[in-house]
Amino acid sequence: MKIQRPKKKLILFFSAIIICIFIVSQIFSDNKMKKADTYIETIKLPDPLTTGKMSVEQALYQRRSIRNFKNISLTLQELSQILWAAQGITDKTLNFRTAPSAGATYPLDLFVAVGNVDSIKQGLYKYNPSNHTLTLIMFGDKRIELANAALGQKAITTAAVNIIFTAIVERTEKRYKERALQYVYIETGHAAQNVYIQAEALNLATVAIGAFYEDKIKKVINTAALPVYIMSIGKK
Ligand SMILES: Cc1cc2nc3c(=O)[nH]c(=O)nc-3n(C[C@H](O)[C@H](O)[C@H](O)COP(=O)(O)O)c2cc1C
Repeated sequence: MKIQRPKKKLILFFSAIIICIFIVSQIFSDNKMKKADTYIETIKLPDPLTTGKMSVEQALYQRRSIRNFKNISLTLQELSQILWAAQGITDKTLNFRTAPSAGATYPLDLFVAVGNVDSIKQGLYKYNPSNHTLTLIMFGDKRIELANAALGQKAITTAAVNIIFTAIVERTEKRYKERALQYVYIETGHAAQNVYIQAEALNLATVAIGAFYEDKIKKVINTAALPVYIMSIGKK
């Protein structure tokens, strides 16, 4: 009997350790699941509208670069409309888009840094024109990091959303060789102007930002693509 008591204690001790290990491993595997889930999270954007309240002429006349935004969220419909204006598909048979593209090579990929949009968590997303969805790349508010990579421009930190226009130049290079880079910049201008006009038609504020360090932006959004432009968007 005297020999058995310490054995009992030992068994109890080891059982407690095994239970602890089991609980901790469950917590870790739960976290892993969450990370995996977030990586594949896809958000279906509302269908864009093809009619609006403001004429093209009026939007062109009124458009201005605006760098001060109210601290009010954008609706998902507004974000949907802006992304569609930039790169949305308008011909499902030939996959043509709202903005022209040299030889329809479509080098642009849009990253969307969400700061304040209804029903979407803060994070970095990628826009998929083919099915008008957003894919989550990473969680978290990226506005300060983006602004730091863009000479501390305040518009980026206060915008509800920042769209980072990036390009995979090789897509255009295959066809247009050394003209490709020029075409990529021209094409980004087309897409960005669409955003200016669409924003005005929705009574939203936007500014195009070209002053940033490409390498720093690449790090913030974790891409090898070429960052060409940022558009900060918010409520007037
Ligand atoms: C290529 C390009 C780069 C620009 N970069 C910036 C920028 O880094 N920051 C900014 O506040 N505005 C930037 N702008 C916006 C211009 O400052 C703005 O268009 C100009 O002042 C004229 O004003 P408007 O757009 O209201 O007509 C840029 C515009 C272009 C076309």
